[in-house]
Order: sequence, then C-alpha cells, then structure tokens
Amino acid sequence: MSSRWRWSCSLTLISLSWKEKGVEPRPCAAAVPPRGLASPALSGLCWSRRWRMRVAISGFQRAAEAVNTYLFMMQARGIIIRENMRTIGAQVYEQVVRSAYARRNSSINDTEYRMDFNHSESFLQTTTFLPEDFTYLSTQLCPERVPSMKGPIDVNVSEVQMSDIHEMFAKDSIRLGGLWKPRDCVPRWKVAILIPFRNRHEHLPVLFKHLIPMLQRQRLQFAFYVIEQTGNQPFNRAMLFNVGFVEAMKDLDWDCMIFHDVDHIPENDRNYYGCQHMPRHFAAKLDKYMYLLPYDEFFGGVSGLTVEQFRKINGFPNAFWGWGGEDDDLWNRVQFAGYSVTRPQGDIGRYKSIPHHHRGEVQFLGRYALLRKSKERQSMDGLNNLHYSPNITCNTLYKNITVHLTPELALVSEY
Ligand SMILES: *[C@@H]1O[C@H](CO)[C@@H](O)[C@H](O)[C@H]1NC(C)=O
Ligand SMILES: *[C@@H]1O[C@H](CO)[C@@H](O)[C@H](O)[C@H]1NC(C)=O
Ligand SMILES: *[C@@H]1O[C@H](CO)[C@@H](O)[C@H](O)[C@H]1NC(C)=O
Ligand SMILES: *[C@@H]1O[C@H](CO)[C@@H](O)[C@H](O)[C@H]1NC(C)=O
Ligand SMILES: *[C@@H]1O[C@H](CO)[C@@H](O)[C@H](O)[C@H]1NC(C)=O
Ligand SMILES: *[C@@H]1O[C@H](CO)[C@@H](O)[C@H](O)[C@H]1NC(C)=O
Repeated sequence: MSSRWRWSCSLTLISLSWKEKGVEPRPCAAAVPPRGLASPALSGLCWSRRWRMRVAISGFQRAAEAVNTYLFMMQARGIIIRENMRTIGAQVYEQVVRSAYARRNSSINDTEYRMDFNHSESFLQTTTFLPEDFTYLSTQLCPERVPSMKGPIDVNVSEVQMSDIHEMFAKDSIRLGGLWKPRDCVPRWKVAILIPFRNRHEHLPVLFKHLIPMLQRQRLQFAFYVIEQTGNQPFNRAMLFNVGFVEAMKDLDWDCMIFHDVDHIPENDRNYYGCQHMPRHFAAKLDKYMYLLPYDEFFGGVSGLTVEQFRKINGFPNAFWGWGGEDDDLWNRVQFAGYSVTRPQGDIGRYKSIPHHHRGEVQFLGRYALLRKSKERQSMDGLNNLHYSPNITCNTLYKNITVHLTPELALVSEY
C-alpha cells in the first residue's frame, strides 16, 4: 500500500487530545477501501481509540484536514457536522459518522474488522445520531442530532390538567413564560413557538406535555406564545401568528419561528424544530389524513421559518377570516419569495391531531378569491399593515397574548 494512501493519526490536533488522555496515537492501519468508495484516494483507514472508530481518509490534503478537524471535534465532544459535510462531501461524511457510531461497542477489541457499508436506510438514520454517552460542552454549539432524540414518542391525547403539567416540569428550570434553554451546550436555534388560540383550553396542556420534553431533548432554546383571539370575529389564525411574531421579537432576538396548531402533537422527537435554510413544513403526515400529504402544496398544521425568511415574505396574510386558505397563501408567499419548502423524511413528520379540529369555527369561503391574488397582496397584507393592541400576561409555561381582532386593524389598499 502506497504511503499516499496512509494517514497518520499523529496530526497535531489529534495527538494533543490523545496525549491529554495518556494514550499514544497509533499510525493508521492499511486497509481495504470501504464499499462505495471507489477512489483509491479515499482508502486510508485509521483508528481513534477514544471513540473506537475508523475514518475514511482522503489522500488529498484538504479532505484529510477536514476529517482531521472532524476527528478533533469528536474528541472535543462538540460536533459541527454540517460544516465538515460541506467540505468532505456527503458520502465520506456518512462513512465517517456511520463507522464512528455503529462500532462503539467497548467490548470490541482493537483487531481489524471490515466496515460494513451495506446498511439499510433505517440503520443509517439511527447511527448518524450521536452516541448515548455523548457529553456536551457548555461552550460548544449543540449538535442537531443528539442521542436523546430517540424517534417515536408515546402520544397520549387524554385530557390532563394544566396544574399537572406545571408539576411535571416544575424541576426543569423553565422560566416564567415558558422560556427554557439547555445549559450543557449552546442552543443551535432560539425558537419561538407561536400557538394561535381560541376556546381550546383542554388542548394546551396536552400539547405542552409532549412538546416540552421533545424540545428539551432537541436542545433548543424555546418559549411558548399563546395568541388568543377575543371578540366575535371569525378565527384569524394567520393574523394571530403575525401578532405573535411581533410580540415575540420584543422579548428576545429569536432566530426561528414555529407556527404551531394547538391540536397537533408530534409523534417523533427527531422532527427537529430548528429552522433551515428553507422554510419547513413539519406536519407532513397527519393521522387524520391517514398519514399522507393531502396535496403537494399543503403547508398547514405546523410550519417553521427563520425570522429573516418570515420578514422577507411579509409574514402571513391578515385577510383570512375563518379557517382555511391562510396556509396555502403562506405557501404561495414562500414560493414568490424564491424559497422552496422542506419536510421531514419518512415517519419523522407524523402528527396526531386531537379531534374536533374546527370545532365551532366557520370556514372562510372567500379564500379562493384571495388565493388567486396571492402575489398582488403579498406586499400589502401582512406584517406591514398590522395593527393591534394586546393584553399580555405571563403564565408559568407560556406568554398569553390576548387580542381583539377586526378587519379594520389590517386594511389592504386597493390592488
Ligand atoms: C456489545 O458487546 C456485547 C458483549 O460482547 C454484546 O452482548 C452486545 O450485543 C454488543 N452490542 C452491540 C451493539 O454490538
Ligand atoms: C480480540 O479479537 C480477536 C478476534 O476476534 C480474539 O481472538 C481475541 O481473543 C480478542 N481479544 C480480547 C482481549 O477480547
Ligand atoms: C448487502 O445487501 C445486499 C442486498 O440487500 C445483500 O444481497 C447482501 O448479501 C448484503 N451483503 C452483506 C455483506 O451483508
Ligand atoms: C394518558 O394520560 C392520562 C392523563 O394524564 C393518564 O391518566 C393515562 O394513564 C395515560 N395513558 C397512558 C396509556 O399512558
Ligand atoms: C389569557 O388571558 C386572558 C385574560 O387576559 C384570559 O381570559 C385567557 O383565558 C387567557 N388564555 C390562556 C390560554 O391562558
Ligand atoms: C385588555 O384589558 C382591558 C382592561 O382589563 C380590557 O378592558 C380589554 O377588553 C382587554 N382587551 C382584550 C383584547 O382582552
């Protein structure tokens, strides 16, 4: 085997961290190119004793450095996978992560074994999450796929008292208003969860019961904003979101907004509520639609945009009085702004919806007429024509923003 194909583990960063642990670095063992990596440039393999992993190494300096950096961060136990993925490429990344986490059995001794890259997709899913004994550093960014994200959640939509929920999370250092952030690492996203509300008091504790532990496991900073509509006007979900957004931004420089129906309960804690470079539709598979996407442009239930994205699309429309259509309009706005929508893969996007979704609320019959003018209205109706005067109270687990909404509060000029 040519030396070009070998790679010494004694590169500075690695050896430093090994020396700290009193373990001498070993040179890489010569090895067989892993399946799927045809290029001989990617055929060096090397051990990290600390993690009992082997890493596919490129003969090219740049890739080697990237992997080295990766290894170092592994050792430092603070992983920023994304950045490395860009440099070393998705394929190598997967090899690195798979081999690192799939083979962590401490009972395995250091004898050579072949890597098995013949894994199924589901295996890949589980192994790209970090190991169980992963420890965090309070100065490092929280990883996106942490071991505490286990997958399916036991969903129990039976009624429960809010006082029970308070008790349940009493020890969790949730601050008044529902504010929480992880202490063992730096949260990747500061997420405001906006919940439009009217007459659903029994749903709120059920949602918190499932959402709080999930967000904690995802190590996100979060707070809940319940935006309640008073008065007799039809329910205006979209305008409530706009109000929630403006109010939330007064509290903290949130970077991610989750628009969450109160009756939608996620069934999988790997449905990561951080934002992305594109707007995200989280509620891809609802039980009430037999876990199928009802139509390609469906954007309802639970969605998320970065603050920047939300501002760019001028928020939600304010003109949708009664249920239906406002989510389709948001979809249009997102497309017109040049974004596309991402969704969680497979069963990760499953949700249970508590029955009686539109209880007592009227349908918005004018929605199709408005949707035909989505583009013309986008710049006139949204965050920029919004007026309201809220009453705000702080509850133990959420901030209560009560508003009386009428169409006069968000007039649209002629178009
Ligand atoms: C780890 O090793 C133990 C003992 O050899 C074995 O029982 C267990 O199944 C192994 N776990 C994995 C994930 O391979
Ligand atoms: C290490 O693995 C080899 C091959 O599987 C085995 O023969 C040997 O007994 C193992 N050593 C220890 C200490 O487990
Ligand atoms: C790899 O997967 C293929 C297709 O599922 C199977 O036929 C083959 O036996 C597998 N090989 C190994 C080494 O597991
Ligand atoms: C569901 O929640 C209710 C209310 O908290 C509880 O009484 C019941 O035992 C739970 N059911 C299951 C299967 O956990
Ligand atoms: C919000 O506060 C108002 C009083 O300002 C109260 O009537 C309402 O029940 C509260 N809503 C929630 C969801 O706590
Ligand atoms: C806000 O509080 C004031 C004073 O209690 C009350 O008169 C008003 O109706 C409230 N507004 C809303 C939207 O609840």
